[in-house]
Amino acid sequence: MRFGHFDDEAREYVVTTPHTPYPWINYLGSERFFSLLSHQAGGYSFYRDAKMRRLTRYRYNNIPADTGGRYLYVNDGGDVWTPSWLPVKADLDHFEARHGLGYSRITGERGGLRVATTFFVPLGEDAEVQRVAVTNTSDAEKTVTLFSFVEFCLWNAQDDQTNYQRNLSIGEVEVEQDGPHGSAIFHKTEYRERRDHYAVFGVNTRADGFDTDRDTFVGAYNSLGEAAVPRAGVSADSVASGWYPIGSHSVRVTLAPGETRDLVYVLGYLENAQDEKWADDAHQVVNKEKAHALLGRFATAEQADAAVEALQTYWTELLSTYSVRSDDEKLDRMVNIWNQYQCMVTFNMSRSASYFETGIGRGMGFRDSNQDLLGFVHLVPERARERIIDIASTQFEDGSAYHQYQPLTKRGNNDIGSGFNDDPLWLIAGVAGYVKETGDFSILDEPVPFDNEPGSEVPLFEHLTRSFDFTVNNRGPHGLPLIGRADWNDCLNLNCFSTEPGESFQTTENQAGGHAESVFIAAQFVLYGEQYAELAERRGLTEVASQARKVVGEVREAVMEHAWDGRWFLRAYDFYGNPVGTDAKPEGKIWIEPQGFAVMAGIGVGEGPDDVEAPAIQALDAVDEMLGTPHGLVLQYPAYTTYQIELGEVSTYPPGYKENGGIFCHNNPWVIIAETVVGRGDKAFDYYKRITPAYREDISDVHKLEPYVYAQMIAGKQAPRAGEAKNSWLTGTAAWNFVAVSQYLLGVRPDYDGLVVDPQIGPDVPSFTVTRVARGATYEITVTNSGARGSRGALVVDGTPVEGNHVPYAPAGSTVRVEVTL
Ligand code: GLC
Ligand code: GLC
Repeated sequence: MRFGHFDDEAREYVVTTPHTPYPWINYLGSERFFSLLSHQAGGYSFYRDAKMRRLTRYRYNNIPADTGGRYLYVNDGGDVWTPSWLPVKADLDHFEARHGLGYSRITGERGGLRVATTFFVPLGEDAEVQRVAVTNTSDAEKTVTLFSFVEFCLWNAQDDQTNYQRNLSIGEVEVEQDGPHGSAIFHKTEYRERRDHYAVFGVNTRADGFDTDRDTFVGAYNSLGEAAVPRAGVSADSVASGWYPIGSHSVRVTLAPGETRDLVYVLGYLENAQDEKWADDAHQVVNKEKAHALLGRFATAEQADAAVEALQTYWTELLSTYSVRSDDEKLDRMVNIWNQYQCMVTFNMSRSASYFETGIGRGMGFRDSNQDLLGFVHLVPERARERIIDIASTQFEDGSAYHQYQPLTKRGNNDIGSGFNDDPLWLIAGVAGYVKETGDFSILDEPVPFDNEPGSEVPLFEHLTRSFDFTVNNRGPHGLPLIGRADWNDCLNLNCFSTEPGESFQTTENQAGGHAESVFIAAQFVLYGEQYAELAERRGLTEVASQARKVVGEVREAVMEHAWDGRWFLRAYDFYGNPVGTDAKPEGKIWIEPQGFAVMAGIGVGEGPDDVEAPAIQALDAVDEMLGTPHGLVLQYPAYTTYQIELGEVSTYPPGYKENGGIFCHNNPWVIIAETVVGRGDKAFDYYKRITPAYREDISDVHKLEPYVYAQMIAGKQAPRAGEAKNSWLTGTAAWNFVAVSQYLLGVRPDYDGLVVDPQIGPDVPSFTVTRVARGATYEITVTNSGARGSRGALVVDGTPVEGNHVPYAPAGSTVRVEVTL
């Protein structure tokens, strides 16, 4: 069952009913100001940091779901309704929400009145603009009154939900009915003291009335759906003093049949220098100059439309770096539009703010951000460079790293600390990905501090050396890397032994004396250790490179010697030295992470798909048999049915959810890539389709979340609700699936000296063309594909057959034509 459809031409998903199984959202903003926006206008806005600079309120865990948003109430001769359906929930004659790239347009129609609102954050602005068109679709003249509504958050989103004894006395606003560009409401709570920022909510006309006090507007015991002022049909002109400040303007509109009236609402964030805070210090009147300038830039519908157009051009240009044309429209729309879009959202948000992340919990993850980078480095290489420097600056001298850092301060987060032993190696992955894409080796010489300590700067390359050495220096009894608090799997806590309810498995004191080892980190070390060696070699550090390769070889051997269970790779050794992920145990026999990553790293890879004795093939076949489901590959199997104190959080989840045997979409692409490594493109593409949202659109009633972006998890085969997704948007799944599909299935990946062209997608996509812009040149790569297992592409570059699968980089500005046959 579907709840809408894709409009590929417009690059939109069109939700055609308010009654989706869950709010389906979009993200507005790509620089400093961001909004989350559901198909029913729910969500909130913030400036840079979802915790510290929250502009508007949202209520997680509320009944009903999706409460808090920017709403426009209509009073049409006593009939009160909202075009976004929520919050009034009056039946609509027509409803449509189009989620596009950086904007959404929600249209509702009732009783001969159509209201269409385009929500977006213009490029270069710290504001959400709501461009409204109100049309009389009846054949009689109509007079209606529109009431806008936003509820201000008192800036710190956490404090806002906890500190009522103070907060209910501090709310302050100013109202300007006759401003230079219409009416405006200014939210200035705490501006009188140490804050130098305020918010504005304006409309580009002189409003007929306003409200800024929530209880007056809504009515003390009403829900938003029963708001008193829209029902009364006239604003109360209330001025908030403490309690709950809001922003609402009422605008009365008379329309002839067929006539449209345009309105532009702007919700903005402004900062003033300390000595320019006041227009009138004695009366504490805010200096509104910047707000007026902002409202002046969106004083007409034409200005707003031009800004929407600029946004569309921005996205067209951004997405031109990589695109595919094939006969599979689902593949094309995921690659060309939605997967890359989601990668940009994870770049902007990391794991901070979604409908599953409150924006007050986590900062930027060290491992998460490095992996995210692999999905967006081709789109915004300069910003990727800056991100790398930020991340590396939080590393410690011994190579270990803060697990997270705060985006506003760029400082490591002490609350969660360090000790996740996979973290350092992800830095090598991120940097290698960046240099391959850009050719910018100069980043390796960039001075970067440890733990942001001025004076501690060393070249970035030295940080990579510390990352590499950290693993080298922290190996256990089997020569495998020590796991520390956890590796990629945050829930495999082998040194934790927690008995305290509610205690965090990620931060609690580890038990001393254990030597728990991670096979995942071993595989990660083989893959990224080799990349480190290659970077060293390219810097002329031959000795460093060969020394590094020697240790990589040792770990590779240790994996085959101590981490092969007979049919697949073990997952770990626990605190006591017992194997985890072995056929010998009744539960948790096989785990996905080491299978995918070991094969990606080339461990146990034999002579292609027919080499059935090769460990790689055996492990991948075991993955298929034990972990495979129609909805993707579960993380491990059989899931734990009871709490296992020596394994930690993984066994706290009921079987089939999250890390305990859920389909953790993030690591499915590791297996997809692994299948292409052994030449089984058909299997790789099959796995891809199982988790990729566009292919799941028809089962939206089961999947429940947005059919245009990946979710972190789909409930696994042992869960009562198998196939149901959770945690959409902010997941490393976005980056890894884009890497899998663009670089391995379609097979076009940047290397240091040229593009590698090596498609492995199986017979379902018999021909396709990839357009790839790399280092300023354009590559038109046309593939004729038998899809036969083990077959590798033969390349003709600009008419000349070449050996191997490398296409050397061409001068910027040139176009290279590549024909591939396999
Ligand atoms: C979450 C975390 C990520 C971790 C994964 C597996 O997605 O953000 O860092 O690797 O869970 O536990
Ligand atoms: C929990 C989740 C895991 C996430 C972690 C972040 O352990 O299961 O997915 O990475 O919390 O702290």
